[in-house]
Amino acid sequence: MSQEDPSNVRELISEARIQERVSELARQIEADYEGTDEVVLVGILKGSFIFLADLARRLSIPRRIEFMAVSSYRDGDRAGAVRLLMDLRTDIRQRHVIIVEDIVDSGRTLEYLLNNLKARGPASVESCVLVRKPDGEHTPTVRYLGFEIPDAWVVGYGLDFAEQHRPLPYIGVLEQPPGDAASDEPSR
Ligand code: IMP
Repeated sequence: MSQEDPSNVRELISEARIQERVSELARQIEADYEGTDEVVLVGILKGSFIFLADLARRLSIPRRIEFMAVSSYRDGDRAGAVRLLMDLRTDIRQRHVIIVEDIVDSGRTLEYLLNNLKARGPASVESCVLVRKPDGEHTPTVRYLGFEIPDAWVVGYGLDFAEQHRPLPYIGVLEQPPGDAASDEPSR
């Protein structure tokens, strides 16, 4: 099975559509932050790395790139607590921050991140999310959203299953969704 065209991944959002949407999101962000000194883009590792790279390159406003890593783990069938694995290396007090996240599923991770960063006294904190699944248990505010998707396990464009399929240029549905064992500690 080739990494580029795996037989168990069904294309959901094409490369062209993703690229078009990332450009649209960049135009929205530019309009909203026009005149601000700098926007701090906080990419959430690992899943956002390709989205962040494309978004950052399309923005014409001053921007700084930072990263955080978190991990959420499951308690039986329920999503468990979020753990901070790697913190920011910069002070965001009085700065404009946009969290760049790959996916919102239960919403727990993004809710945690928004609360965590808001507590540090930034000028503002918003979120830019590539894809969102329906009916999350938590409903954090997503200011910039790429796509609403069905409730299925998706891979590609940075998203993985057990570290597989991140380099795919499109987003696809994994035909054999992860079982309980694999989702104990989802890779990011
Ligand atoms: P949450 O349930 O919104 O907190 O999302 C938890 C994390 O699980 C996400 O940030 C992703 O890293 C991962 N995740 C959830 N659904 C998917 C998926 O369909 N594909 C890849 N990763 C996912």
